[in-house]
Amino acid sequence: MALRQRETLIFEKSVAGKVGLDLPRLDVPAAADTRPAHLKRSGFDALPEVSEVDVIRHFTRLSKWNYGVDDGLYPLGSCTMKHNPRLNEKTAALPGFADSHPMTPAEHVQGNLALMHTLQTWLGEITGLPAVTLHPSAGASGELTGVMLIRAYHLSKGAQRRIILIPDSGHGTNPATAAMAGYEVVELPSQTDGTISFEDVTDPTTGKVRKGLAALIREHGTEIAGAMITNPNTLGIFEYRIKEIADLLHGVGALLYMDGANMNALIGVARPGDFGVDVMHLNLHKTFSTPHGGGGPGSGPVACTKALEPFLPRPVVVREEAKRGEGEVPAYTYRLDWDRPQSIGKVHTFFGNFAMLVRALTYCLSHGGDGLKTATLRAIVNANYIRKQLTGTFHLQYETPTLHEVVFDDAFQAKNDVHTLDIAKRLLDYGFHPPTIYFPLIVHGAIMIEPTESEPKEELDVFIDTMKQIAREAAETPDLLHQAPTLTPLRRLDETTAARKPVLRWTKQA
Ligand SMILES: Cc1ncc(COP(=O)(O)O)c(C=O)c1O
Repeated sequence: MALRQRETLIFEKSVAGKVGLDLPRLDVPAAADTRPAHLKRSGFDALPEVSEVDVIRHFTRLSKWNYGVDDGLYPLGSCTMKHNPRLNEKTAALPGFADSHPMTPAEHVQGNLALMHTLQTWLGEITGLPAVTLHPSAGASGELTGVMLIRAYHLSKGAQRRIILIPDSGHGTNPATAAMAGYEVVELPSQTDGTISFEDVTDPTTGKVRKGLAALIREHGTEIAGAMITNPNTLGIFEYRIKEIADLLHGVGALLYMDGANMNALIGVARPGDFGVDVMHLNLHKTFSTPHGGGGPGSGPVACTKALEPFLPRPVVVREEAKRGEGEVPAYTYRLDWDRPQSIGKVHTFFGNFAMLVRALTYCLSHGGDGLKTATLRAIVNANYIRKQLTGTFHLQYETPTLHEVVFDDAFQAKNDVHTLDIAKRLLDYGFHPPTIYFPLIVHGAIMIEPTESEPKEELDVFIDTMKQIAREAAETPDLLHQAPTLTPLRRLDETTAARKPVLRWTKQA
């Protein structure tokens, strides 16, 4: 039975005097309240007074309103919402990992340090970049770390470069990162096949000319600190000229940052270090199956070349071979190296989100190198199956072959005044989490679908049939879509106000 009643906040359920716990009667004198005044809350509207039934029903209902990767397909393009294997949870919960304190001396947590070092080695091998930090807590924090490495590198050479180049298909966090690191962003235009244009691009409607990569490098030369490029890009298209791009940048002493959000399309097949990337981040919560979003926290390790290694956040986990007698098997000890005078400093407390590192290494070890490659290939096959089945039903702005995701748009449905938002909302009525919409910005009304390798063909077929059904509705009964969702506990929300003026703290109404 679907639960459709309005659910109030737990604070609104509060009734003075209601209790949800039953403590034994105090059999010692009550202690004086010795809490220092500055540690006490003031102006706080007290915790809700609710019964056990209230609490259990409230959170159970909310959990039923939720939708996660355990419910079904979660085709949120650019997010790689894949299955979180339960084995990862088992290893992360092992007491030696889960109960260790981050301030324990290194000699007592050799296993934990060995785990971090082993994961660094895997990530180094996967990316083709030898130096790795596991500290950043998400993709965006990995980006900032990476761009700070680029900055520190140029500063160490006495150069104060000014510009970062970013394609117009880039994720919003890329320009935000560059700006936070003090750089000016110069946009790289895409050409008609969806990849970065080396040549100038003329807008067919406005006639405006945007400089291509070659002209921008000629114009700004040694003012360019680097470029931030997602590969495959946010259209799912492999930037096939990436090596040439890297060479052009290196020619003026600039570095290439790769946004690794889409590594699910490359692992085991191509290594960014081999095609000229100097530094990149990986999202463990995307590619390496650790929980994503509300199920986080995330983890965004950064891998880089030897030239950037001195600037990595500290401490760095290092492995040393213990002295051994002839014929003895090698034994290693691990330590935290704080002595990094050129380090950019700390980007996270301690060593990052450690439990995510346990999960990610479990994922690597349980797949093995071949298994990781198979996962990549299946992710690509799944996305291309959807692409093939839905081409003709939904419009494709770029016909260039794609890897792990596909970006349709609403051009066919717009003729009936049905738009991407309507399609996404109607999917909710059919019990699906919608794809990413209106991103990348270079596709008007984008519908970006990434199924990942987790999906069996049967689930993909149900999704494809549903999308086809929605397309039929758009043609025959467009109003149905304008009103969607009709079957969810809440209907259309004012998403703009929610994003622009979020109310994140409950206050008691007078
Ligand atoms: C291409 C791309 N870059 C960067 C990010 C930021 O990653 P995170 O959400 O882990 O900060 C995302 C997130 O979806 C992304 O799709």
